[in-house]
Amino acid sequence: MTEPSDLIAAARAAARHAHAPYSHFAVGAALLLADGSIVTGCNFENASYGLSLCAETVALATANAQGRLADVVEIGVIGGAIVDGAARGSEPVGPCGRCRQVLNEAAQIGGRDILVHCAGAEGERIATYRLSELLPHAFGPADLGIA
Ligand code: THU
Repeated sequence: MTEPSDLIAAARAAARHAHAPYSHFAVGAALLLADGSIVTGCNFENASYGLSLCAETVALATANAQGRLADVVEIGVIGGAIVDGAARGSEPVGPCGRCRQVLNEAAQIGGRDILVHCAGAEGERIATYRLSELLPHAFGPADLGIA
């Protein structure tokens, strides 16, 4: 049984690989799939700033590339400012608006209201939400007439 703390630990491990030389803010994400496997991602910035990729989206794209987009059940997200080479901070960090929309794609395709666990780079507190709380009245495939 994978606990929220396990997903947060996996997200923290992923965040160590963040490529964030511009924002100096590391984010890690860990998806729990229906078979219990975990897929991770970290933020991936580049010199054009605005084209940077968020950790959650990287993890979701990886799951999709494995043919597993419909299998996402939960996600753990952590983030924090990088100080002396390590991400710091204890306040929970939640997914940005774009990541919520991308999460909604997995939720709709998989028929699940994904559980979202948010934590800081350090610290114990985990804030847990349903995706429908974070993105109410979402735009999704049904709006395009796609079941
Ligand atoms: N970031 C994420 O990876 N996920 C989010 O949900 C919010 C922001 C990244 C993007 C950028 O590399 C850094 O955090 C600062 O915005």
